[in-house]
Amino acid sequence: MSQFKKEIKKTYTNALNQRLQTQLSEQSSCCSPSSTSDESNDLTQTDCCPPTATETKKQSTIPSFGCVINLAQKANIQKGDIVIDLGSGAGHDLFQAADFVGPNGRAIGIDFTHDMIIAGMKTAMEKGYTNVDFRLSDIEEINILPDNFADVIISNCVINLTMDKGAVFKEAFRILKPGGRLVDADIIAANQLPSEITQDPETWCSCLGGALTEEGYSEKIKEAGFEGIKVTIFSDFKYLNNQFHSGIIEAQKPLSD
Ligand SMILES: C[S@@+](CC[C@H](N)C(=O)[O-])C[C@H]1O[C@@H](n2cnc3c(N)ncnc32)[C@H](O)[C@@H]1O
Repeated sequence: MSQFKKEIKKTYTNALNQRLQTQLSEQSSCCSPSSTSDESNDLTQTDCCPPTATETKKQSTIPSFGCVINLAQKANIQKGDIVIDLGSGAGHDLFQAADFVGPNGRAIGIDFTHDMIIAGMKTAMEKGYTNVDFRLSDIEEINILPDNFADVIISNCVINLTMDKGAVFKEAFRILKPGGRLVDADIIAANQLPSEITQDPETWCSCLGGALTEEGYSEKIKEAGFEGIKVTIFSDFKYLNNQFHSGIIEAQKPLSD
């Protein structure tokens, strides 16, 4: 396993345990250094978006490390849908998705950090969710899910962290049913990033070093076979003179080949 992957697991294990211990989820800020337009060099935060007033108490106790709030709501999930959350963490968006799909749907979270999966499973048991499942897997190779299985794939601030984004999008395409949708909330670099950013493990683990440009993501999504790619930007910030956005990249698997 690459050194970066080890670092990512360690970073998010520590971030989760810190959050669970201190119960500070209400006061977190994004995994990017700043969600404002101010320049910042502070990469100590690996927490993400704070819960909002529109979130239920049920969700507000589940740590969030995402870069776009209320992703499940924005993803237009329907009752009965099968939803997969790539890099679900402890399930902040997944439990929201489970509320949307209802008892006849399923919400499955995939993450390669063991403690995230355990925390998610514990929450599912405590809160009595019967339509939620967590699986331990690298999202670059998801052997545990069949082809043409899911209606919607969501992902919140994860794909920027992956080494092989093309592989992730190919797996997403394989798992989705024809007509299924990918809704990826992510960090987007405004321009090609310099090597001081892309080669630094800490910057990578903070969701910045591996961020692609809008064109970079779109190209890989298109290569995987998706169509109808649409990008919506929600916020902008700077780190070491590099401009970033957080946004949602949506795409659809064609109805027929
Ligand atoms: C910034 S956190 C976001 C977690 C969650 N989506 C949320 O919004 O709370 C990134 C998560 O992605 C997971 N992750 C990163 N790379 C991964 C990979 N290649 N396969 C599976 N999970 C991965 C990490 O373990 C971590 O839980």
